[in-house]
Formats: sequence, structure tokens, C-alpha cells
Amino acid sequence: MSKNKKLVIITGINRGLGKALFNQIMNREDFFIFGITRKINNNQKILFEKNSFDYCIRDFLYEPEPIAFDNIIKGYSELIFINNAFTIEPMDFFRVIKRNEIKESISINILSPLMILNNLVKSLNEGQHLKIINISSGASSRAIKGWGLYCSSKSFNEMFFKCLDFESNIETHSIDPGVIDTKMQKKIRSNSIKDFDWVDYFKSVELLNPNDVAKKIIDKYL
Ligand SMILES: NC(=O)c1ccc[n+]([C@@H]2O[C@H](COP(=O)([O-])OP(=O)(O)OC[C@H]3O[C@@H](n4cnc5c(N)ncnc54)[C@H](OP(=O)(O)O)[C@@H]3O)[C@@H](O)[C@H]2O)c1
Repeated sequence: MSKNKKLVIITGINRGLGKALFNQIMNREDFFIFGITRKINNNQKILFEKNSFDYCIRDFLYEPEPIAFDNIIKGYSELIFINNAFTIEPMDFFRVIKRNEIKESISINILSPLMILNNLVKSLNEGQHLKIINISSGASSRAIKGWGLYCSSKSFNEMFFKCLDFESNIETHSIDPGVIDTKMQKKIRSNSIKDFDWVDYFKSVELLNPNDVAKKIIDKYL
């Protein structure tokens, strides 16, 4: 356990809140990032070529291939896993949602992150401390029309992480980041289905800048 930096493993670094977290953590000398992502942007390509961070590609639509965490976490005593990647789709009444859309939503939001985490937890060695920051949502405890899969996946994850915290020495925090100016919020606001009263609500809420949200999360939890 000689490395004096903390290792931050974060899912979904290419855009939105994940990208804002990535950029700010990159500027900190006390952290090294390992990203688990569907793709990386041009800036990240340059940083990777300079060995400034590391990553692997996983599309959460599919059962993730095991990640060689044994090597990745070797030498770090403090590890932080940020469970960020998520989809809000499908946003529609359950009666019209297709079978494959149900599977895809659960694969991205629950199955893949838990399989990756299971892989990580099994690789932990004596003396390595893991903290999990689960990016949740107010929707975990609020029923919203057309968001059954999103709300229930957030609730599922929150309860799962509470149990994990309870049964082990893994520290977990589920946080509601607020309403942030990202692609997910654009999708929410552009939804045109009648009877979705919340579209007007979200349009009336002032959007938070992802960089401000990322800073608060880092200051409080990292
Ligand atoms: N925006 C809000 O108002 C708001 C409010 C409450 C909570 N949150 C939570 O904040 C977190 C970040 O959301 P965001 O607002 O930044 O949304 P976003 O802009 O839509 O970003 C979603 C992230 O999830 C990744 N992702 C989506 N599908 C994936 C897949 N099949 N495989 C792997 N990665 C996938 C995306 O990667 P790609 O770039 O490769 O697609 C992206 O990095 C989420 O957990 C969300 O639920 C957001």
C-alpha cells in the first residue's frame, strides 16, 4: 500500500456530471482516476496518452466483461467508487414500454454497475478502504409518472448500498445532486407526452451548473 494518492473509479466520464467530476478530480494531485465508460472525449484521449489517468470501455447495455481490478487497485489504500452512469430512458407509461426497453434500463442502471462493483469488492485486499458515492436522485423517494424504471432503480440502488454499508466496512453515500444542466435534463424537458405534469415543473426549476455540483460533491465526500 505504498501509493499516497487515492484511486477514484468513476462510471460515465464522457459527459454531464461525470465529465465535470472527471475534470475537477484530474486537477487534484491527490487523486488518480480510473474511468469506466462507453467512450472518452478528445481531452481525455490526450490525458490518457500522457498516462494522467486510466480507463476501460464498457457499455452497460451488456453484461460487463470482468475488469482486472487486482492490478488497477494494487498499492492504493484509499479507493472511491462513484456510481454515476445512468439512463432515464424509457420515459413513458409502462403500458407502452417495450420488453427490451425494460431490460436495457435495468442493465444500465442496476445490473452492470453491481456486477462491476462485485468484481471490485472481490479484488479488495486487507488494508484497502472503499468508499462508494452513489449519484442518486430525489426520484428515489418520489413517484413520477412515466419514470417507473428510473425512480425504482434509484430506490433499489440506495437500499442496496445501505445494505452493503451495513454488512461490510465499505462506506457508502447516496446523494441527490439536484436538477443539473446535462443531456439527461434536456431529454426530460423535451418530453412531449400529455399528462406528464412534471415537464412544466422541471422547466420552471433553475438548472444547476454541473461544475458547481461536482465541486460540492468533491468537497464534501472525497
Ligand atoms: N441531470 C439531472 O438533473 C440529474 C438529477 C438527479 C440525478 N441525476 C443523476 O446524475 C447522474 C449523471 O447524470 P447526467 O445528468 O450527467 O446525465 P447524462 O448527461 O445523460 O450522462 C449520463 C452518463 O451515463 C452514461 N451512460 C448512459 N448509458 C450508458 C451505457 N449504456 N453504458 C455506459 N454508460 C452509459 C453516459 O455515457 P455516454 O456519454 O457514453 O452516453 C453518461 O456518461 C445520473 O446518475 C443521474 O441519474 C441527474
